[in-house]
Amino acid sequence: MSRIAVIGAGYVGLVTGVCFAQKNNFVTIIEKDKNKIESLLAGKVPFYEPGLDDLLKNAINQNKIVFVNSINKALKDNPQIIFSCVGTPSMPDGDADLSAVWNVATEVGKNLNDYCLFINKSTVPVGTAKKVENIISQELKNRDLSLDFDVASNPEFLKEGDALNDFLMPDRIVVGIKTDKAKKILENLYKPFVSKKDQFICMNIESAELTKYASNAMLATRISFMNQLALLADKVGADIFDVKNGIAKDSRIGSAFLNPGIGYGGSCFPKDVKALIKIGEKNNQEMSMIRVVDKVNDYQRQNFINKIISYYGRNLSEKKVGIWGLSFKPETDDIRSAPSIDVIKRLLDYEADIIAYDPQAQSNIRNIFDNKIKFDSAKNILNKVDFLIILTEWKEFLNYKTNDFKILNDKVIFDGRNCFDPIKMKSAGIRYFNIGRNNINKITFEEKNFFYSKEDLNEISL
Ligand code: UDX
Ligand code: UDX
Repeated sequence: MSRIAVIGAGYVGLVTGVCFAQKNNFVTIIEKDKNKIESLLAGKVPFYEPGLDDLLKNAINQNKIVFVNSINKALKDNPQIIFSCVGTPSMPDGDADLSAVWNVATEVGKNLNDYCLFINKSTVPVGTAKKVENIISQELKNRDLSLDFDVASNPEFLKEGDALNDFLMPDRIVVGIKTDKAKKILENLYKPFVSKKDQFICMNIESAELTKYASNAMLATRISFMNQLALLADKVGADIFDVKNGIAKDSRIGSAFLNPGIGYGGSCFPKDVKALIKIGEKNNQEMSMIRVVDKVNDYQRQNFINKIISYYGRNLSEKKVGIWGLSFKPETDDIRSAPSIDVIKRLLDYEADIIAYDPQAQSNIRNIFDNKIKFDSAKNILNKVDFLIILTEWKEFLNYKTNDFKILNDKVIFDGRNCFDPIKMKSAGIRYFNIGRNNINKITFEEKNFFYSKEDLNEISL
């Protein structure tokens, strides 16, 4: 049993803390946000992550987890292990904003009283651990203290919506370390999560930091690759589902992360892809491939919105528009870099009357758009609107039958997630715009040229 401090009770920090508590460690969570701390002290997870509420309650009942609002308080108990899980959002130029990481390192250096292993779990550019080490050393020097400590990198690979499984049954655990002592502490800590040979992967700190970016950039690359192929499929008469199936059956390729859509969003892929480009710039290595991945993703969103505008024109003041799905993917309430934000902004520019629904993310979207959009149930929306836009593939939506959409005034759907069968939609008399499956609809090329008008496509060369 170890005494662990976890700084930051976001999607990553809270999952990390609760999972270690479940394996009999004693965990102190440090969170500076007053509302989050109040919610946690009341035993409630301040966001939606399936299964996390129950595990949190268990940990609280077994006295395995406590919550405090400052690093100073947490370090009084001399935790041997400190995880930094604070946010590292994108700055306008794409670089990662590391101010929270530097603050945490400074506070730790100011308050450390005994040996600790400080671990970066947030995604941070290569070289961050070294700087963290320098900051802590400097703070200890300022206090005339000579304390032994280690810094390590242990990137998270937690998919929101499935984060507990990813933590409790990981494909792999990557750790970047400099000393044997740090390696042993981490090996011991992760022993209960390791069931296969080679699951615990040790490397130097820089390699671990880069592994995280490589992993997310690889997944983002697969998505952008399929998104660009989907555009081509629409132009050449192919169906992207068949193409996906055809390549995924090659065991060297596999089927994961090959679903085309409106483009990837969330708190990681967009930010990490941009940050990797910046890391390249700073190290005099042009990351041309990753740059295109990012560009294709932006284009995919614009292209989707432009399809709507090409079909309906730039004045939507007479139109009631329904939106199903606001979170960046299903099973989360997270709307960071969600396509819904861009789509809603553009539709509001064109004066559309928007009614939206999401099983979890409505209050987060309301915080941005206030009363500029309305909300209703998925079913009621169908009764009220002229056309429907689908932005997240929540299971609840997939249960709808094609005939349920006949009630839409215009009988038009723009589906950014390919939730339905285009043939069935066609036979129900519904105009069903999708991602790379428009040929299955047997739409003639004349018709296609109509909605891909050059003026609106805002063409960019990729
Ligand atoms: C974070 C990082 O943003 C990302 O780089 C990494 O890959 C995954 O971990 P997430 O947990 O989703 O992602 O972030 P967020 O939900 O923003 O949570 C961070 C928490 O840290 C917030 O609750 C914030 O209030 C807290 N925080 C931040 C502190 O408690 N102290 C600080 O000094 C800064
Ligand atoms: C990601 C990583 O998967 C995870 O390991 C960790 O590093 C944090 O970042 P997350 O952002 O929570 O997790 O979700 P993920 O399931 O990876 O999806 C990211 C985005 O890609 C979503 O917008 C999703 O809709 C999109 N996506 C995913 C596709 O468009 N097509 C796919 O085939 C898969």
